[in-house]
Amino acid sequence: MGLNKSMGCTIPCLIFLAASLLHVHVHSDDDSLGEGFINIDCGLPDGSSYLDEKIGLNYTSDDGYIDTGENHNISAEYNAHELLRSSLNLRSFPNGGRNCYTLSPATAGLKYLVRATFMHGNYDGKERDLIRSPLVFDVYMGLHFWDRIYVNSSTTIYVAEAIIVAAVSSVSVCLIDIGRGTPFLSSMEMRKMKSSLYPAAMHNQSIALQERHSLGASSLVRYPDDPYDRLWWPSQGTSGWLNLSTTSEIKRYSTDPFEVPVRVLQTAVTSPTTSTPLNLSWEVPSGWPAMVLPGYYLNMYYTDFQEQRLRAFDVYYNGYLWVPNNLSITPNYLFSDYSNATAPFTDNSGFYNVRIIATNTSVLPPMLNAYEINYLIQHDDTATDTQDVEAMMNIKTEYQVEKNWMGDPCLPEKYTWIGLTCKSDGVTSRVKTLNLSFNNLYGAVPDSLTNLSSLRVLDLSGNHLDSPFPEALCMAGSLTLRYDAMNGDPCNGKSPEKKSVLLKIVVAVPVVIVALLACTLTVFCFCRKQVPSVLPGCANLPCPKSHEDYKGHVHTSDSREFTYAELVAITNNFSTCIGEGGYGPVFHGELKDGTQVAVKMHSPTSATGKGMEEFLAEVFNLNL
Ligand SMILES: *[C@@H]1O[C@H](CO)[C@@H](O)[C@H](O)[C@H]1NC(C)=O
Ligand SMILES: *[C@@H]1O[C@H](CO)[C@@H](O)[C@H](O)[C@H]1NC(C)=O
Ligand SMILES: *[C@@H]1O[C@H](CO)[C@@H](O)[C@H](O)[C@H]1NC(C)=O
Ligand SMILES: *[C@@H]1O[C@H](CO)[C@@H](O)[C@H](O)[C@H]1NC(C)=O
Ligand SMILES: *[C@@H]1O[C@H](CO)[C@@H](O)[C@H](O)[C@H]1NC(C)=O
Ligand SMILES: *[C@@H]1O[C@H](CO)[C@@H](O)[C@H](O)[C@H]1NC(C)=O
Ligand SMILES: *[C@@H]1O[C@H](CO)[C@@H](O)[C@H](O)[C@H]1NC(C)=O
Ligand SMILES: *[C@@H]1O[C@H](CO)[C@@H](O)[C@H](O)[C@H]1NC(C)=O
Ligand SMILES: *[C@@H]1O[C@H](CO)[C@@H](O)[C@H](O)[C@H]1NC(C)=O
Ligand SMILES: *[C@@H]1O[C@H](CO)[C@@H](O)[C@H](O)[C@H]1NC(C)=O
Ligand SMILES: *[C@@H]1O[C@H](CO)[C@@H](O)[C@H](O)[C@H]1NC(C)=O
Repeated sequence: MGLNKSMGCTIPCLIFLAASLLHVHVHSDDDSLGEGFINIDCGLPDGSSYLDEKIGLNYTSDDGYIDTGENHNISAEYNAHELLRSSLNLRSFPNGGRNCYTLSPATAGLKYLVRATFMHGNYDGKERDLIRSPLVFDVYMGLHFWDRIYVNSSTTIYVAEAIIVAAVSSVSVCLIDIGRGTPFLSSMEMRKMKSSLYPAAMHNQSIALQERHSLGASSLVRYPDDPYDRLWWPSQGTSGWLNLSTTSEIKRYSTDPFEVPVRVLQTAVTSPTTSTPLNLSWEVPSGWPAMVLPGYYLNMYYTDFQEQRLRAFDVYYNGYLWVPNNLSITPNYLFSDYSNATAPFTDNSGFYNVRIIATNTSVLPPMLNAYEINYLIQHDDTATDTQDVEAMMNIKTEYQVEKNWMGDPCLPEKYTWIGLTCKSDGVTSRVKTLNLSFNNLYGAVPDSLTNLSSLRVLDLSGNHLDSPFPEALCMAGSLTLRYDAMNGDPCNGKSPEKKSVLLKIVVAVPVVIVALLACTLTVFCFCRKQVPSVLPGCANLPCPKSHEDYKGHVHTSDSREFTYAELVAITNNFSTCIGEGGYGPVFHGELKDGTQVAVKMHSPTSATGKGMEEFLAEVFNLNL
């Protein structure tokens, strides 16, 4: 598509939307206005909210989205200057290198616009220091660097905005202290978008905003003119540009991937003569982290609303002609058009310049209604398995965990959630151990815990949890589970002899099981006599009273092996059947050192009928 390789650098092509497409669309549907929006005014007193009458959206305090930080009001002298009401107060984060907002609900796989705004407003009385040593901190979208906020003025509203596809049912935004002042935040907003918009944002990459302007406009355009509440800033009045505007209706194709609001398209700039180009330039922000050389996506939007005489122009990017198929651009009359980069621009110089130049045959000078410059956020880090993230988020919510749990549970090194360890298989990280001991937890154990399918160690001791625990948890063969048994054992419904029980799951190894299966008339047949074909729960299970000595071995998760005779001793001749797992009966036992254990057996008559193969898989899994 017009990609010119001979230029020696990457020149992505612009797509010019041919006027032959059908399906004209005038307005977006109004019935979904404001739906799927999260509007958070950071630093508002807990539990409060207000209607921002300028835009007609309700803003709420941030207490449901973050557990850390301090509320502040900006200095009273700036209250009157406020452009956004949400900038009157803020939340600052003097403690913790990393503080995250968890924005939910979201739907995994859907597209969202996420925006954070920052206005210092001399909240800490230190605005004068900002000139000498600007406040700098980073904003991350989950694991990924999103923006570096460089605050050198107390009255400027800094904005970080990104379009993302949610990976799980929440979106995590983190502020990172890089040692150059206390991070703070004025507002967080999230808007659901149509998935067809901004095709560059997909599951494996996001785009973040560098600039978005409505040219020729005299004030900010946003919701409800823009149903997605993008902020279209007025142009800064570049000298030599002329402002144009119309009140005529402007139409667009239903397949338009950018859906620029009509109000934005109703103003434009033009140059005074056909021989004067319109030019745009931008650069990589100063002080950007060295490892990030962003690739830029430029979108230009135009609609002709002057007399219908020929207006045609070419676009040059850093000096190179950037037009597909040798076709110049001729904006449609009262119809939305765009040119977009199909691949990100990167230039090692960090400087970018785009010139829009009328063709020789053009009667009218070039014009431009709006533009956006986004940069690519690559998702190249190993993120945590989405099911584990969901489960951890649920656990955090249901338990209201008092630990500083924020962002991705398995974030690299120093930011990994307190109380858990993870293991990466190179593709995703999985939660391996979770220590929730002495965490003041009340109530029921969330089922979500059973969704941490790679969990090997779970410590719930020292809390005040209700019985019983989810069976799947008690019976997970590969899990070492630690808990208190103050008011009856939550895993077997019986009063325990000890206050704290360490329950280890001991599993019979294949040798024994094979042996058992081979001699079906022995142990299991005995069992069957009293408990016909299907094993019930263990309430009145007498289980084996006599046995033969088997020469097989069993072993535990510590890779210890036991003979069948030892197993008989450990379980006191299988006297206490404490439940039925997916494979068959589970017996209580005690090792010589006093360790409480559960002995799982495979029964071909198990109610849930799980097979030998799965059982063996579970057994082998213990050898981690
Ligand atoms: C804002 O919230 C209030 C009460 O919570 C409600 O009465 C009002 O309708 C809401 N306004 C909007 C625009 O959603
Ligand atoms: C901010 O000001 C409001 C009233 O204008 C007050 O209710 C609130 O407590 C103040 N917040 C802080 C953190 O001082
Ligand atoms: C703040 O920084 C920006 C970008 O580096 C610069 O253009 C601007 O002049 C600075 N403002 C002040 C008040 O120093
Ligand atoms: C065009 O509009 C902008 C924004 O309102 C303004 O700053 C600028 O001075 C205007 N330019 C001209 C030539 O009137
Ligand atoms: C943009 O165009 C104007 C007028 O043509 C010119 O004065 C200015 O230097 C140009 N800026 C850049 C960055 O090319
Ligand atoms: C564009 O024009 C150049 C010369 O004017 C020609 O060499 C080239 O083949 C043309 N490309 C296309 C895609 O038509
Ligand atoms: C540019 O627009 C075309 C549709 O005209 C779309 O297929 C493509 O994905 C867009 N590319 C980017 C990077 O936005
Ligand atoms: C357009 O004008 C330039 C110089 O002004 C000239 O070099 C070029 O050949 C012309 N192109 C056409 C297609 O006439
Ligand atoms: C994301 O996937 C698309 C194809 O689905 C691919 O074209 C693109 O390069 C990928 N992006 C990254 C950052 O890997
Ligand atoms: C969990 O943490 C507590 C206190 O830090 C510690 O005593 C206990 O041994 C840990 N549990 C596990 C299973 O490591
Ligand atoms: C466990 O994960 C599955 C699949 O991801 C999900 O459908 C289910 O709701 C989860 N259960 C809990 C209790 O979170």
